[in-house]
Amino acid sequence: MLHTLDTHTSKTWFITGISRGFGKEFACQLLARGDIVIGTTRDGTSDVAASAGRLTVFALDVTDGGAVRKVVADAFASGPIDVIVNNAGYGLMSSIENATDAEIDRVMDVNFHGPRRIIQAALPYLRRQRRGHIVNITSIAGIAAGAGSGYYAAAKYALEGLSQSLAREVAPLDIKVTCVEPGAFRTDFLTARSLRTSSMMDSDYAATAGASADYLAKLAGRQPGDPVKGVTAILQAVDSANPPLHLVLGPDAIKRADEMLKAFAADLDAWRAVGMATDHGSEAETAGEAS
Ligand SMILES: NC(=O)c1ccc[n+]([C@@H]2O[C@H](COP(=O)([O-])OP(=O)(O)OC[C@H]3O[C@@H](n4cnc5c(N)ncnc54)[C@H](OP(=O)(O)O)[C@@H]3O)[C@@H](O)[C@H]2O)c1
Repeated sequence: MLHTLDTHTSKTWFITGISRGFGKEFACQLLARGDIVIGTTRDGTSDVAASAGRLTVFALDVTDGGAVRKVVADAFASGPIDVIVNNAGYGLMSSIENATDAEIDRVMDVNFHGPRRIIQAALPYLRRQRRGHIVNITSIAGIAAGAGSGYYAAAKYALEGLSQSLAREVAPLDIKVTCVEPGAFRTDFLTARSLRTSSMMDSDYAATAGASADYLAKLAGRQPGDPVKGVTAILQAVDSANPPLHLVLGPDAIKRADEMLKAFAADLDAWRAVGMATDHGSEAETAGEAS
């Protein structure tokens, strides 16, 4: 049954990007309820208050593959880890046409390859444990992309796709996977510390990508989502007996997800007959589930 709470027993968490925002809130709530947190920040420091022994902080930039493998190995050296949270990330606003190669490579590196590196490094340990839960913080932009955030969305879509495949591969090993898709939450995400805007924006995109960038600039500091409640909701999902593959957070995100699903269903229905007529003739055999 959905939303059934397990009796909470103390868990050990590995979380990227606990310097601020969702990551810091995770660390604070988990430590307050008695869990153990292994967190990463880029400079290896944290101002999160913790009783001795329950918070370990490693220095990590998730774009450094060698460092990811070392930090993950060091984290598992002190014992089993129950939950891995891929939280670190940042946004890029640009039209598809105008972003530079460097901007695109960086946003994919941090938001997709960072979590991918952590997952690949952690899986051998999680498989040996025969338990664990991988939580990937993607975005509503990772299931319903809007104008102006195409490359950020592409990175988050990639992480969504990886997560769906991964969930199927590791379910028999008792490892769970959850994607969290937040809407606009009031963290540092829309400040210049996290949101980059391409300087290349062409005036032809002013009404689409440009308008999205302007909207986010005005939304900064006024986002409807409360990160404290957002993190509490994620903990509820992780603690539940039946964690979801998708956890959409915030009324804004749920509205966008509903609209995306309706539009997808409308396309599917409108073009169903055309799509259904593309098999070989009567000799075609049902191929089963496509990869
Ligand atoms: N807030 C929202 O509205 C929202 C909506 C949808 C999805 N999300 C996702 O939620 C996650 C957390 O974002 P947030 O809202 O908490 O934003 P935030 O307050 O800006 O925090 C971002 C965190 O990511 C870390 N980080 C960025 N680049 C990194 C790198 N290369 N290596 C390691 N750490 C790095 C930052 O570390 P530094 O302090 O060192 O920069 C910081 O700890 C992100 O994946 C974001 O895409 C947020």
